[in-house]
Amino acid sequence: MRLAVFVSGGGSNFQAIVDAVRDGSLPATLAVCVSSRPDAGAVERARRQAIRTEILSAPPGDEQATAREIRSIVERYEVDFIALAGFMRRVPAAVVEAFRGRMLNIHPALLPAFGGAGMYGRRVHEAAIEHGVRFSGATVHLVDEGYDTGPIVLQDVVPVLPDDTPERLAARVLEVEHRLYPDALRLFAEGRVRIDGRRVTILDPPDSTI
Ligand code: GRF
Repeated sequence: MRLAVFVSGGGSNFQAIVDAVRDGSLPATLAVCVSSRPDAGAVERARRQAIRTEILSAPPGDEQATAREIRSIVERYEVDFIALAGFMRRVPAAVVEAFRGRMLNIHPALLPAFGGAGMYGRRVHEAAIEHGVRFSGATVHLVDEGYDTGPIVLQDVVPVLPDDTPERLAARVLEVEHRLYPDALRLFAEGRVRIDGRRVTILDPPDSTI
């Protein structure tokens, strides 16, 4: 697996993926970090760790230019798998099509709850608290043309506590994210994922005994 991680923010999930590659628990090569903005914390992290980084220069609203730029990056770095990790730009449909079944995103809630257009960052956790749910969590899903609508690969839960603030809930969910994202990528790297429409089946490791 030659992985590109797409970022826009602080990059804590990016870091979790880097760590998993470095400690050998994720059998992948981190080919490139792609950022939608030059000032993302993730870019600083990538540079500190000598990971090759590309900053998108296409204007955010220009889908065709963005698609051309992403295609050129994935060709140059021979990327065969994309992980969106807090990437705040819509992925052009042409890229979604080219990477169908090979592009993941992570969302800080139990989809399909608290997802969709405009549901990102603090708002997700505000909505979960406001709604009174007892549990929230994180979801890793395949990327399709919608917002947070692709087939679900892995989920895990955290409790929502009576006195939670969005910040405290976000921190609890992030801890789960940092474990879940490398786990999901490992399943793909090991070829242990079967996709049938919306249903994703995790296959046993080849050497497992029942
Ligand atoms: C995470 O909460 C992730 O679920 C969402 O964006 C946030 C990114 O955080 N898609 P970070 O940049 O990985 O710290």
